[in-house]
Order: sequence, then structure tokens, then C-alpha cells
Amino acid sequence: MAGTPTTGPVRVALVGAGKITELTSRAYEDTEDAEVVALCDPREERLAALAARFPDAERFGRVDDLLASGTQADMVEISVPTPLHCEVACQVLRAGCHVNLQKPMATSLAEANEMIHAAQESGSVLRVMEPYLFFEPLETLKAVVESGEIGDVAGFHMKMVGTGGGGWDVPWSTLQWQFEQMAGRGLGILVFDDGWHKFAVTKWLFGPVSEVMAWIGRTELGPGIALDAPSTVMWNHESGVRGVLDLTLAPDTYMRSHYYSSDERFEVTGTKGFARVNHCTAYGLGQPVLEVYSGGVLRAYQNLDDDWGNCFSRQTAHFLQWLRHGGSAPDGSGTGDPSAGAGQRAGAGQRARADAPSGGNTPSEPAAGPGLLLDARSAREVLALVLGAVESSKRNRPVRLDEPPWAAP
Ligand SMILES: NC(=O)c1ccc[n+]([C@@H]2O[C@H](COP(=O)([O-])OP(=O)(O)OC[C@H]3O[C@@H](n4cnc5c(N)ncnc54)[C@H](O)[C@@H]3O)[C@@H](O)[C@H]2O)c1
Repeated sequence: MAGTPTTGPVRVALVGAGKITELTSRAYEDTEDAEVVALCDPREERLAALAARFPDAERFGRVDDLLASGTQADMVEISVPTPLHCEVACQVLRAGCHVNLQKPMATSLAEANEMIHAAQESGSVLRVMEPYLFFEPLETLKAVVESGEIGDVAGFHMKMVGTGGGGWDVPWSTLQWQFEQMAGRGLGILVFDDGWHKFAVTKWLFGPVSEVMAWIGRTELGPGIALDAPSTVMWNHESGVRGVLDLTLAPDTYMRSHYYSSDERFEVTGTKGFARVNHCTAYGLGQPVLEVYSGGVLRAYQNLDDDWGNCFSRQTAHFLQWLRHGGSAPDGSGTGDPSAGAGQRAGAGQRARADAPSGGNTPSEPAAGPGLLLDARSAREVLALVLGAVESSKRNRPVRLDEPPWAAP
């Protein structure tokens, strides 16, 4: 059975029914590639709200009960608070289910190593989802850069302004654990939680990072409540490209959005011009979402899908295709080798099987092959960059990521 593609829909359990599940669950409402068989959240009202959309799914208040129930699930979508990622993901992987995990992957490299180890041992696939890599304007920016149209890459600049007005409502309980994470470990909403997306983008565009330096500021909002801004992070890619992320707060600014109201910009400067993505989760100032300037000509893209919520469905579709067709992602970025896929069906609560797929989860390739966006090894590199930035700010000097403990063990 090793590497046999799944023939039927992927049976999915949704663990965590909080804010982001509003977006992650959308992809499962209208697809023939998956069937939601179970829902899990200790909060009854959240479970009930999700169950209204997936009435045939079984409901659980605890992951232990889900895994012990005999419910047959192939993959678990994990959307619990980040400090619980390691515990819940390891439980699920060891039970023989594949995982689609929310970002940030973990709160420490030790946790990431433990999860990768659990995936290796069980033969299950650990994927860390990253919606920005499925945002069509950023995909197009990548294609423009790779085409050589703006010349050789001279630098990459990202800007994120946390605005106070606009966007969807975020309940206090969703913010509370984020503020606790900041208070207890210095892992804030802007550099660690949201910054993860930006560091994933830079790694996706320009490859591994060798060195990072950051000044992470602090803005008190109230007792025990602080944001990690203003902050500036700088890094060097092994390729020689330098990146900068600038984070500021503009609490009295309104920004139209269906989601988070951040003003975000991504600009690649080339030797012959530049390419800019002008907005992402919010709609910015209504400029074209992508502008490319080259040879004295400015081109503006009006035909790209700039509804950020849609990248959640696209990343889920990508993973389902990967699971069902043996590592061949719809965009052809997979290995194309059915043995690298993870199409076997495992029951929840079932121990890892000897016929686990060989191509993506051998000890030499711990957590699935290329094309997953993000496979666990790549996600660990993003985590090393984020945590390296936090550490650099504490030490007030650069951190090298090609040395232990940042480099993969
Ligand atoms: N990809 C993105 O753009 C994006 C955006 C926001 C949040 N996130 C990530 O998604 C995750 C969840 O964030 P959120 O904003 O939805 O938080 P949230 O607090 O709104 O939701 C978390 C849910 O998990 C439930 N939960 C807690 N412990 C559980 C357990 N042991 N088993 C099952 N359920 C449990 C909670 O009751 C809650 O309903 C975090 O890792 C966060 O960083 C990702």
C-alpha cells in the first residue's frame, strides 16, 4: 500500500473551532476531495456553530476522545492556539493521521524537532499551511521576479502597519492567549505571529536565510497587554539578497478589510525596475494589487484575485490534491512521484503503519517531499528565522541561522 493514492475523498477532522476556522473550514464545504467526519473543540458554543455547517460530522470536546473514538480520519486540520500546536500535532501524528497545521509551527525549535520526529516515526505527513503563498498577487510577483523582467534582485522590502479600524471582529479570547504568549515568552502578535507570514514569503521567494538582526519594540496597551512594535527586522539570504521588514502601529487609521485590517506591502527591487504588491489581508488604498515597473513602463494588474480569504481554500485544495494524487500538486510543484505522496488512509487512533509512504517521510526527508508548501522541514526554517529575529533583538546583535541550534539538527 505504500504511496497508494487515496481514491475516495480525504476524511478530515477539524480540531479547533475558533476565529481562523471561519476561513479554513470554507474549503471543505464545497469539495468532492474531502469529507469532514469530525469536529473538536472544548467550547460547546463554537463546536455547535461549526456543527451547523457540517451536521454529519461527529463532535468531540477533547482530542483524546476523538482519537479513541474509532472515527476514521485521514487528516486532521489543527487550528488550536499556537502554544498547543506541539502537543496536539504529536498526538495526532502518532495516531497515524496526517496533519495540516496552522502557523506559526511552534513556539520553540525543540517543539518543532519533536513534531518532525513524531512525523518520521509515524510515517504521517506534517504540513504547515501558509496562505500567503497561495495569494495570487504574490504568486504573480514571484513569477515576474523569476522571469528576469526587473533584472537581478537587489533587495526585498516588506511593510506592515497594524491599524486600529476596519476588518472583522476578533473576540477577546482569541487575543488573550496571544497577549499571554507575548507576556510570557516575548512572542508577539506582530513579529512572531503575523511576521511568520512575511518570513515564509521571503524564504519562498529567495531561499534560505543565513543571518538575521532585529530591533523589536514594545507598545503597552494596558496591564499585561503589549504589542511588539515598532519593530524592524533585517536579514541576508544565502543567495545574497537582503530583506527588511518594517512593522509599525497606526491605531487611529481605518483600513477596509473583510479580515485583519493590516496595511501590508511587498516590494522587490531589481536592477532594472521593481515589482510591488500593494495590499494583502486588507484592501489598502485601492491601488492595483500588483504593479511592475521595468524599462520605463509601469504595468498595473487588475485581474488578480486579491480576496485574501480565498487563499485558505486554495492552500487546502493544494494539500488535498497532494494527498490524493501522491505528491503531485495542482501547480505541478509536487514531486510528481506517487511514492512521495501520502495517500494511505489511517484511522484516527490507529498506530502508524509499516506501509507509510516512503518518499516523503523517511528519516532523511522527515516530513514529506517538496511541493507541500510548507513541508515540516521548510516550516522549521521559517520558525528558526522568526525565533532568530526575537533572539537577535534580545542580544542586540545578529544571529547566524546556519549554526546550531538554528540549523536543522
Ligand atoms: N493562517 C493565518 O493567517 C492565521 C490567522 C489567524 C490565526 N492563525 C493561527 O491559527 C491558530 C488558531 O488561531 P485562532 O485565531 O483561530 O484562535 P482562537 O482562540 O480563536 O481559536 C482556537 C480554538 O481552539 C480551541 N482549542 C483550545 N484548545 C483545544 C484543544 N486542546 N483541542 C481542540 N480545540 C482546542 C479553542 O477553544 C478555540 O475555539 C493559531 O495557531 C493562530 O496563530 C493563523
